[in-house]
Amino acid sequence: MSKVALVTGGTRGIGAEISRQLKAAGRAVVASYAGNDGAARDFAAETGIRIMKFDAGDFRQCEAAVQQIAAEVGIISILVNNAGITRDGTLAKMTRDMWDAVIDTNLGSCFNLCKLTFDGMRAEKFGRIVNIGSINGQAGQYGQVNYAAAKSGIHGFTKALAQEGARFGITVNAIAPGYVDTDMVRAVPADVLQKIVARIPVGRLGHAEDIARGVVFLTADNADFITGSTLSINGGQHMY
Ligand code: CAA
Repeated sequence: MSKVALVTGGTRGIGAEISRQLKAAGRAVVASYAGNDGAARDFAAETGIRIMKFDAGDFRQCEAAVQQIAAEVGIISILVNNAGITRDGTLAKMTRDMWDAVIDTNLGSCFNLCKLTFDGMRAEKFGRIVNIGSINGQAGQYGQVNYAAAKSGIHGFTKALAQEGARFGITVNAIAPGYVDTDMVRAVPADVLQKIVARIPVGRLGHAEDIARGVVFLTADNADFITGSTLSINGGQHMY
């Protein structure tokens, strides 16, 4: 039977490509999303991948979703914590709401879903968790104290949980994407983005496919000796 994979934020951008590639790798994929119904419906129609609407930053909603997936699809053994938002602004302009929204969605979601799926993986003696961090959690980014803190938190969370999962056959890794050609990056002011791309040695933005390939690699059945690592996929922009 196919192993069940949950990809949060899995219907758009990097997450959509992760969902597609995991399906192509033979996984039974559930792609979650929080808000954009139209995009999610189009994605489901195009790919045949099951979609589910819930807020990954909300523990109770995650709990209900994980129970529903267990009942209707199966125990989740592959978890990709990809859901992420930006609320950019210098600290001077950042409100507490902008801070909370990014911390809850980007980092709180990792706690919620790891907490809720870990026991199932432990019972199966198999689990693959990939948390999507960011170059901006490794290097920082002007105008992103909230996002950089959340993504940096993901990198620490990953290394801590990897130590807890190792003896149960559960690997926990992170991917730190650089600037990838998605709606999120397209929202960066054009002049700012131009300067960022000029600093990428490979000379282009990343593609969602570049990141998804890393997820397939880290979640393979035989990837059991890779845990606690961060795979930087950023065109050489930051070597860490
Ligand atoms: N370094 C130094 N100074 C900078 C700067 C930088 N990188 N960027 C802007 N400044 C300066 C400006 O020139 C301006 O200076 P003056 O006041 O002297 O003119 C000052 O900072 C303040 O600028 P703003 O008033 O424009 O500041 P703001 O509070 O409105 O914020 C911003 C602007 C939101 C930070 C905007 O510059 C921006 O969107 N930057 C890009 C942020 C970014 O890269 N986000 C990544 C999104 S994609 C993503 O996050 C995915 C991923 O994982 C990679």
